[in-house]
Amino acid sequence: MVDAYLLFGEDRVCLPKYYEDREAEIENFEIRNDDVIVASFPKSGTTWTQEMVWLLKNDLDYEGAKTSIRERFPYFDKSPSRLPELSDRNCKQLFDKLRNESGTRFLKTHLPFSLLPKQIRDESRTPKIIFVMRNPKDAFISYHHVGLCALGWRANREDFAKVYLADKVLFGPYWKKVHGYCNMRHLPNLLILKYEEMIKDLRSVVQKTCAFLEKDPLSEEQLEKLCTHLTFKSMKSNPAVNLEQFINERKRYNPTINGSFIRSGKVQGYKEEMNPDLISEFDEWIKRNIENTDFDERYAY
Ligand code: A3P
Repeated sequence: MVDAYLLFGEDRVCLPKYYEDREAEIENFEIRNDDVIVASFPKSGTTWTQEMVWLLKNDLDYEGAKTSIRERFPYFDKSPSRLPELSDRNCKQLFDKLRNESGTRFLKTHLPFSLLPKQIRDESRTPKIIFVMRNPKDAFISYHHVGLCALGWRANREDFAKVYLADKVLFGPYWKKVHGYCNMRHLPNLLILKYEEMIKDLRSVVQKTCAFLEKDPLSEEQLEKLCTHLTFKSMKSNPAVNLEQFINERKRYNPTINGSFIRSGKVQGYKEEMNPDLISEFDEWIKRNIENTDFDERYAY
């Protein structure tokens, strides 16, 4: 669906060619202080984070959460769709809708910090930004899986690894994205979450996010219910968040497409999927990219 990828901005971020036509509009998009943004490198638990954030901010409105996450929490820098049935959701319409929306606007983005709308970077607007990150090897496996099973890619894992490690993967380079947000962690309106922490202690992450969003603390019962709603099993069978509609739309154009977005949800699942040589290549790339930084190694390897 995408013609070509080009490198944009000071981080040489790999974005689809269409971004060229949208760059100025995104740069100058009017941000509001009560906007809520979830940013990530793809496959880092974005949808999981979006669902948690949306429910916290909307006073646990489980009824409202039955609407697709793609409607409730639109993809800000999305590609203009060429699929006819998606034309009603093209970028211009999305931006017009956002401009006319009152109340909190929820935006998902895969843009690096350096390409977010100018008002965020110059700190004249302070929306809440939640950046979620994940071990790059697990994100790689998940990315390749979704490419093959849901987006109709043909590249095998080794070929995709070459692109990934050469920092030419769409929405990469991984480390520019991660360092770009982590370097801004002093901003009071930026919260950095880790997929691994969400797996290990979702309750604490929910409570931390709740406080960041300036919402009243949840009761024990509310917390329990939200954590149950956010379990892997529950999200996998929830059509509002498992993106099965997105996959079905694509299936009509490419019958080989047959996968699920919410796949295995594991930490260090890459160990079951990657051979030792590929793991070593990744580890060298990781080492090069975190040396001379204060990046916490526990989340790198
Ligand atoms: P896997 O493919 O490794 O299973 P994104 O939303 O950024 O595309 O991330 C998708 C990844 O998040 C997938 O990883 C998906 O399974 C995982 N994920 C989504 N919801 C989850 C949940 N409730 N618990 C654990 N992992 C979840």
